[in-house]
Amino acid sequence: MSEKSCSEAARRIAVALDTSQRDQFRRWISWFGPRVGVLKVGLEAFVRWGPAAVEEAKAQAEAIFLDLKLHDIPNTVAGAVRSARALGVRYLTVHAGGGPAMLEAAVEAAGGEVAILAVTLLTHLDDGQLNALDLAGSASRRVERWARLARQAGCAGIVCSPLEAAALRRANPAPFLLVTPGVRPLTAAPGDQRRTATPGQALRAGADLLVIGRPLTRAPDRDVALERIVAEMNTSRRGPP
Ligand code: C5P
Repeated sequence: MSEKSCSEAARRIAVALDTSQRDQFRRWISWFGPRVGVLKVGLEAFVRWGPAAVEEAKAQAEAIFLDLKLHDIPNTVAGAVRSARALGVRYLTVHAGGGPAMLEAAVEAAGGEVAILAVTLLTHLDDGQLNALDLAGSASRRVERWARLARQAGCAGIVCSPLEAAALRRANPAPFLLVTPGVRPLTAAPGDQRRTATPGQALRAGADLLVIGRPLTRAPDRDVALERIVAEMNTSRRGPP
């Protein structure tokens, strides 16, 4: 990877490379790779190209976030974590809903080389969606409980809504990582995300790493979009990660 010169704020951005168009994927990694701290390879790209997607992104990026949201029996998840470890990714997601034994198996398989991030509730799940799943009750209590489980299992951090970050930060001090998708600059459309916050709000609430996809990748002018997001982040005056 080339020498990085991106700002402290930009180092806290993980760009979600959600596409199955190879040319687009390559354009994004070469444009965003030198400009942000982390490139996130998710299901769309990984299912399409497998480890090659990670290898390509790794060549341009400071760190790779492999967002596979693993959720299976502990033995199977541990095997998948070992495979991700061999790929040299820095972050890997698993679902907190897999339970403590699965989380512990993931952490053990990571061997301190991969930061295991537990996904609490997906950010598109609003009250209507949760009711449809018969998961009525307080989403925030569920998230707080699952965050604690993840921390007790040894996870490096969690993926959570920026709206929950402040309460989660109080209950889970640094260095436990809070990674927040559902980040929308004031000027961007929410898309299918429901529980959103601006980049500045997310950082002020205690987020360490902001996952941002479409507001950057689908922006009519990526330069302008990234500049605005970094400017919003700088209003929060957080130090380096
Ligand atoms: O395009 P957008 O900014 O909505 O992308 C958000 C990214 O974060 C997507 O790659 C999505 O898979 C991921 N994500 C999420 N909610 C979670 C966990 C991950 O939106 N709870």
